Formats: sequence, structure tokens, C-alpha cells
Amino acid sequence: WRLSSLLALALLAGAQAQTVIPAVIPTLPPPSASVAAAPIGDSIFPALGQAGLDVLNYDLDLTVDRPGTSELRGTVVLTVTSTQPLPVLSLDFLGPQVLEVRWNGLPAPYRHDQTVGKLIVEPPQSLLPGTKAEVTVRFAGQVGVRPDPDLPINVGWQAVPALGGRVGANFTLSEPDGTRTFLPVNDHPSDPATFTTRITVPAGYTAAASGVQRSEVAAPNGGRTFTFEQAQPIPTYTLAIHVNRFERVDSAAVPVGEGGADVIRRDYFPVGVPADTRDAYVSTGEILKVLADWFGPYPFSAYGSAIVTPRIPALETATLSTMPVTSSNVRVLVHETAHQWFGDRVTLADWSGVWLNEGFATYAELLWAQAQGETGDDMVRGWYARVGRSQTRPLVATTESQLFETTAYIRGALALQAVRVTVDDTAFKAYLRGWVSGFSSQPVTTADLLTYTRTRLGAKAEAALRLWAESPELPPLPQR
Ligand code: ARG
Ligand code: ZN
Repeated sequence: WRLSSLLALALLAGAQAQTVIPAVIPTLPPPSASVAAAPIGDSIFPALGQAGLDVLNYDLDLTVDRPGTSELRGTVVLTVTSTQPLPVLSLDFLGPQVLEVRWNGLPAPYRHDQTVGKLIVEPPQSLLPGTKAEVTVRFAGQVGVRPDPDLPINVGWQAVPALGGRVGANFTLSEPDGTRTFLPVNDHPSDPATFTTRITVPAGYTAAASGVQRSEVAAPNGGRTFTFEQAQPIPTYTLAIHVNRFERVDSAAVPVGEGGADVIRRDYFPVGVPADTRDAYVSTGEILKVLADWFGPYPFSAYGSAIVTPRIPALETATLSTMPVTSSNVRVLVHETAHQWFGDRVTLADWSGVWLNEGFATYAELLWAQAQGETGDDMVRGWYARVGRSQTRPLVATTESQLFETTAYIRGALALQAVRVTVDDTAFKAYLRGWVSGFSSQPVTTADLLTYTRTRLGAKAEAALRLWAESPELPPLPQR
């Protein structure tokens, strides 16, 4: 527990006329609540999240004073509830130094361990199921560091330094658990939440984020404040935030939302990227139509891409896919667009099931090829040859390094092909649509998909999926 923060609280309380100074200034309570702050229990990331915590909304107010650096300051208000009494709140946070924490507006004791990556907050009384609280965290400084085990990158808040004629930029690339490098969060896909994101940037910069832009207003020194509303819940890792010198390109809305509702279309291109970078994105509307036909209505209010210059993996950030210049091709775009349904709307209960994201998104590449008049046979045979060349294994991952292996993507897609060949395409389409509509508010596991497959398509389809999900060997090529 930080003495300095208590001082800061006292000062702040004094500075704000409307603030009531609490009768008892938060002191140094014994953080005896370690048992109550049990993590969610993810099989790959056992320390992430808090069991019983349900964050409903994150209201962010971020300022990027020097784009291209790792400096970030801001305030987040979390609207929280719980499914069991919680004597403390345990948020994931590797990020900037905490300056202040409030519980329903009043200063609350806290302990921030930037090494472990937990921010423990003690409420005046336990958070009970059926009740809500607002937890405010103000922070400033350098974002946290979370190295990827396999790629030469850190996940989370990215700083792209100025280079040549290009200005410095920032963006999020958080899968699986990088959001905690810059924001206090319940950093697990089983607790999706809505977001309001306000970002203040210096003169000449544009900010973009997941959701629909609500406003753009002047800020001090010629800066601008952009506000975005993500009104449907999304997993924390899918939150997109970008700061760059962007050209925003608006296109005609696409009527693929619920009940044919219009989906807003906007893409963000950094000033100075090669002109042909834009070519792939011309197909975005058509991709939405083809995928919505197979998967059901597009689940959010807007869709597009924000293009980034570093060579990194593309990421299915909600409503605004993060697309490197080097991956600006239609196949990757189809893949990330499909994740809006599979991963962003239908979310994971446990990271071991990440093939449920990657297998469906990879399968969408086949559906797109077929919509272009191809048989897709080459693609399926190519997939089969590729898994045959690598060490195959059951679909459920057991280690962090396995998460984004070929198995999740290619064996996962072949598992869906194995299901498809047991039925006709009408039944397969209803099956895909039913998975999305039935599991949009309930995080999913492989067991859920197996049960759903049996209920929807019968024992033969379930057996086909089970073989591809569970066999240590490579099953035979799926054929009608
Ligand atoms: N979900 C991303 C994609 O399919 C891949 C992200 C890889 N991330 C990582 N930390 N290795 O398209
Ligand atoms: Zn993917």
C-alpha cells in the first residue's frame, strides 16, 4: 500500500470542491483477501483475471502526449458486478503507475504490483452479486511490457517510433493478454465488456478505436479528442486503439447487420503508405456480405481496418481489424473479418480453445474462395498436406506456445470441413449461424461445440468433429 498515494488522495480530495473527504482516510489494511481474489483459472494463463468478477463497461479517457513513445496517461472507470461476494477487486495491470483509485467516487485503498501485474482494490464493503460499483483508476507513465513467447514482439500497447518521413504512432496488439500493459482490466475473453474510449492526441494526429465514432472536439494546444462507443461486449484483447497521422476513408454502409441494419464502413490509412496498400480493402463490403450469408448478421455497428506499418501479425480487433501493410491482402482480410463473429462475438471460455477462433476464421478463407467461383478443393488439399508435414496433435492447446500453431488454424479448419461433408450446405449454413446466435453471450469450449454439433447435425457429424478434435493422429482427408 502506497503512502504516497494516500498523500495524493488527500491533496486531490482537497482540490476538488465537490469531493467529500472520507471520515476514515484509507489506511494499510492487511491484504488478507488473497483467497477471495482467485484468478479465473485459465488452463494456459492460470494467473489472469478474477473469478466471480464481471466487468460490464470500461469508460476510458486516454491521452497520448508523445505518439511513438511508450508514455500514456489516463483514467478508466470500470462498471463492475460479480457472481460471488468479492471482498477485494483484483485487476490485471502491468501498465503505467497508478495515481489514484476510487470506489463509487470515494478514495479506496489499493496495491499495484507492476511485476506481477495485479492491481488490488479494497472496496468499503464486498461487491455482492446483483449490485454494481464504479471503480476509477487514474494512471500515468510508461506502459507495461509483456513479451510474446514466440514472436520478437511485445503484446499490448505498441510504440512505433518516427522513422524517415514517418511520424511516431501507437496502437494496440493485445492478443492474448496485452491489454493489461496499458489498462487495468479483467484480462480474459470469458468476461467481454462494452467500451467507451476517449483519446486525446496532439495536433495533426487522428485517433481511432473499436466502435462507432461519436465525436471529435478540440483539445489544448491544437490537439483533438476523439470519442468511440463500442456498444456490444467484446473481449479485452480485441480492443483497438490507434494514434497516427491517418487518412480516414469512409465507404458506403453495408446492410448486413441484425435485421438488415446498415453497418458503418471506415478504414484508416497512415499518410504515406504505398498506394496499392489500399487495393485489398475495396473488397471489405463484399467480404461482409459473403460472410454474413454464412454466419448470420454482422454482430457490430461498424467495420473496417486500421493499417499499421510494422511487420507483425494481423489482428481481429473488434470493428476495426489491425492490418499490417505487409498483410494487406484479401485472404488475410477475410480471415480477420471472420473473427468478428468467431472470437470477438462468440468468445473463448479458456485460451486452450483458441482453435475455435482460428479454425473458423481459416475456414472462412475457403468459403470466400468458393463464393468467388472456385471449388476450394485445392485449398482443402493444401491444408491437408500442410498439417501432414507438421507434427499434428489434438485441437485443444496445452501450452502457451501452442496457441497460434498450425494446428489451431489448419487442423481447426479441416475439422470444420469434416463436419461439412457429413451434411448438405443448407444444414451446414444453419449450423454455423446457430453456433453464432446461440453462443454469443456464453463463452465457448470445444465440448460446447461437440454437444452443439450432435444436437444440430447428429451423431455422425459429432463423431467426425471428435476425431479431428481429439485424435493424436492425422484423420483421413474429409470427403463427401
Ligand atoms: N489472431 C491473430 C490472427 O489470426 C493472430 C495473433 C497472433 N498473436 C500472437 N501473440 N502470436 O489472425
Ligand atoms: Zn486468426
